[in-house]
Amino acid sequence: MTTPLRLGVNIDHVATIRNARGGDHPDPVRAAEIVARCGGDGITAHLREDRRHIRDEDLRRIQDATDLPLNLEMAATEEMLAIALAHKPHAACIVPEKREERTTEGGLDAAGKHNQLQPIVSRLKDAGIRVSLFIEATERQLDAALQLGAPVVEFHTGAYAHAEGEERARILKQLADMSALAAKNGIEPHAGHGLTYENVQPVAAIPQLAELNIGHYLIGEAIFCGLEPAVLKMRELMDHAR
Ligand code: PXP
Repeated sequence: MTTPLRLGVNIDHVATIRNARGGDHPDPVRAAEIVARCGGDGITAHLREDRRHIRDEDLRRIQDATDLPLNLEMAATEEMLAIALAHKPHAACIVPEKREERTTEGGLDAAGKHNQLQPIVSRLKDAGIRVSLFIEATERQLDAALQLGAPVVEFHTGAYAHAEGEERARILKQLADMSALAAKNGIEPHAGHGLTYENVQPVAAIPQLAELNIGHYLIGEAIFCGLEPAVLKMRELMDHAR
């Protein structure tokens, strides 16, 4: 069965440009409003430990500005847990975070970090927040997500996005197999990272995937054609692939 595929737009990099000058422009809230107007299904934002893009006050402003569900990407720390519990986003996606990395370079080691993750997953779930774990598409990590009681996993598509030819096909098959296995076990599979107009369709065609979260490429394209056309084009490519 093919599930409807949502598009979550990650607006972090609007804030990255804003922060380059330290002022208020461009405002990620304006981006969230445009995404809401043109048919995006959700807003994703990563409040990083170093606040390099979204800042604390942006979260409430985004929540106040649109009715779209907010997916808060967060590290598994007490500080981020407290912020999530205070803001009660629709969803929280737990991601690995290293201060020195340029972006989220690999999936969360849900298997190795079980003991650290369990209380955080439980407290988010108790607060009614839909928990997602950003993991590599492997059986080991999926099994750990199942043990942790996460209702959602987001598969890291960075390796897929960077691979070519047979290697890309191999990783795509792994994404498809793990999406099917997740769904069979009652976990809703999502995917994201490094997705572009060029590489999104084979991923969007995986029938069990329920959501793609896409940021950097869309914000980059928006510089040339505007955010609304960029989101609409991505949406169209995803719908065609389905
Ligand atoms: N999903 C998660 C969990 C992420 O951390 C990110 C950003 O690294 C994305 C999706 C979006 O990735 P990109 O900006 O490469 O589209």
